[in-house]
Amino acid sequence: MDRISKNNLIQDYKIQFINRFNELPSIVSIAPGRVNIIGEHTDYNKGLAIPAAVNKWILTLASLRKDRIINVFSLNYKKTLRFSYDQSNLNGELWEKYVKASIYLIKEKYNVKKGFNILIGGNIPIGFGLSSSAALEVSIVSSIVKLFALNIDNYEILKICNLIENKILGIKSGFLDQYASIFSKKNQFLLIDFKNLNHEYFKSNIKNGCWILVNSMVERKLIFSDYNQRVLECSDAINFLNQKIKQKLNFNSINIEIIKEIKHNKIFYNRLLHIITENQRVFKMKKAILSGDLNLIGNLLNQSHDSLANNYNVSCNEIDFIIDISKKENGFLGGRIMGGGFGGCTINLIDKKYKKEFISNIK
Ligand code: GLA
Repeated sequence: MDRISKNNLIQDYKIQFINRFNELPSIVSIAPGRVNIIGEHTDYNKGLAIPAAVNKWILTLASLRKDRIINVFSLNYKKTLRFSYDQSNLNGELWEKYVKASIYLIKEKYNVKKGFNILIGGNIPIGFGLSSSAALEVSIVSSIVKLFALNIDNYEILKICNLIENKILGIKSGFLDQYASIFSKKNQFLLIDFKNLNHEYFKSNIKNGCWILVNSMVERKLIFSDYNQRVLECSDAINFLNQKIKQKLNFNSINIEIIKEIKHNKIFYNRLLHIITENQRVFKMKKAILSGDLNLIGNLLNQSHDSLANNYNVSCNEIDFIIDISKKENGFLGGRIMGGGFGGCTINLIDKKYKKEFISNIK
């Protein structure tokens, strides 16, 4: 992958903005992609996760116009969208829908009246589980907030981005991706608690290990996957359990003993089992990263993969194959499917000594 710095990207895009719109942008808004170390499919169940930003970004550069026209140029898709402020047509290719929905929601909610020019681009690989679409939403929404000096904090930006997915695009996703894009800090891990919608930062004490992503090249579009079905299965499963035991438990008050009551319903039982154990792994992972315990981190990644593949059924043959061959490599400490599932990347912890060997063999 190309390694371009944030500043170089900003400089390059400024020139592109001038070439396209004959003026300097008045604001630049930048949002990173993310990896998720652990805590998968826990966000929409009010659980926990440990993501971290990556050094790949989506940038939105913008300037105000005097009329009510909105001009959007996408560097990645080499395409211009031009529409009037009063238009609320959200059709188009998926990326266009993201762009239009982001603009639409914020202008409706905050009664923004003027037009603007924006240029969007970035170097996050699209559709492989690094949350390029969340970064796209965050960077567009933040750019409009900056451009119109709207009095909105980061949590409001987070909620707007989540609405874009839930209400407009029909993806019932949680807050993980946008939260990580908005709140991540350099060289820190983020432990997010989705029940209270708050987070803490912590630093890694990992000495001789490195994180490596392996891209399965199976493109993952949540909207076309069974993602929404998993979301529904979880809420159905907890209702089913509550009916059975005549209680009103939520995802934070269930445990492995109690869900045995619905063991006969394999799907519901397995979904809840994943949620309970994955949240437990998040706490263990924080401790393991803080103490730099490479073997424990690796084991937790492997356990998470088993649970995602067998209890939650969000892996796929290609990813399972990559995990299987990775396990045979020297220096492989552990790995798992990352993100929404059904393709995308695996995230792996590798003993530093074997980094090159691992990369060339897996390639
Ligand atoms: C996708 C969704 C997130 C989260 C993950 C799975 O990335 O956008 O909200 O549910 O899948 O952990």
